[in-house]
Amino acid sequence: MRVLGIESSCDETGVAVYDTAFGGAAGLRAHEVYSQIDLHAAYGGVVPELASRDHVRKLLPLVRETLREAGLSTTELDGVAYTAGPGLVGALMVGAGFARALAFALEIPAVAVHHMEGHLLAPLMEDDPPEPPFVALLVSGGHTQLVHVARIGDYRLLGETLDDAAGEAFDKTAKLMGLPYPGGPQLAKLAGIGRPGLFKFSRPMVDRPGLDFSFSGLKTQVLLAWRGSDQSDQTRADIALAFEEAVVDTLRIKCERALDAAGCDTLVVAGGVGANRKLREQLQTMAAKRGGRVCFPRPELCTDNGAMIAFAGALRLQAGESVDAQVKVRPRWDM
Ligand code: KG4
Ligand code: ZN
Repeated sequence: MRVLGIESSCDETGVAVYDTAFGGAAGLRAHEVYSQIDLHAAYGGVVPELASRDHVRKLLPLVRETLREAGLSTTELDGVAYTAGPGLVGALMVGAGFARALAFALEIPAVAVHHMEGHLLAPLMEDDPPEPPFVALLVSGGHTQLVHVARIGDYRLLGETLDDAAGEAFDKTAKLMGLPYPGGPQLAKLAGIGRPGLFKFSRPMVDRPGLDFSFSGLKTQVLLAWRGSDQSDQTRADIALAFEEAVVDTLRIKCERALDAAGCDTLVVAGGVGANRKLREQLQTMAAKRGGRVCFPRPELCTDNGAMIAFAGALRLQAGESVDAQVKVRPRWDM
């Protein structure tokens, strides 16, 4: 089954083709992502109306490009999967309208995919994929969740953030130290040249039982440290390192606790913050100590992309999920 995946929930237009005849990484026949970062940078954040317009502009050329790369024509597709939510409503409507219209014209099914389920399943697109049951850490700009996956489609929320998502905390912290949008990856890069031990921030909520998170207080701690400092480039890097350590430690502690609570050996990590090098290292060390396993998608499949939507859609179609013809999006949607 060859499925075209379309992602347009925020500021990335992603298009991909996944072919279940191959499986694993080989199933990903082609994938293209166009980032709108430059468009939104001047505004310090995503402007929803501009995002929608840019998705309209880029979708068709990207679909053409992706099909060319895959060596396929539209008539060789068996389905079209699109992100139906959560996300920006106008941006979602662009992808949904496009996907539905294409599927209608080709007389193939269109399938609505939950963006976070796409992230969650992305690690299964790699070779030697993890088998459920496992615990998944979903860490993106909008979500921080621990989920028990009994099998594909059977998800139980174990814990989540009570305020900012981890990626949001990275972005906001970067912004308050004067880094341009989107600051998260830049902050992580700066942390690489930070000197250890000069700043120390708390690990929120680790001393209480439970699997929820809270990252908004860290931002305030950083603000106070930054304001009281010489605000030099080196200090920014030193603070970035202490901040990253605090977030990564917190995530690691809660992941280990979740594995214990769920009686699982396997941890799966997905979402934009899953691209963070230090997080990957620390979780790997933690899993190795327990004799368990941690699985990540390659970094480019951690952040928003069409591949995860094509893959999730292909699994749903293979499972015989029925599809209807309405263009529906769900800006707010629990998985
Ligand atoms: O999954 P994603 O692309 O979009 C959402 O669904 O939100 O995640 C984007 C988030 C942003 O907040 C970004 O700052 C964060 O992931 N991010 C990172 C890194 N790369 C992306 N955070 C920390 N370290 C990174 N290397
Ligand atoms: Zn995402």
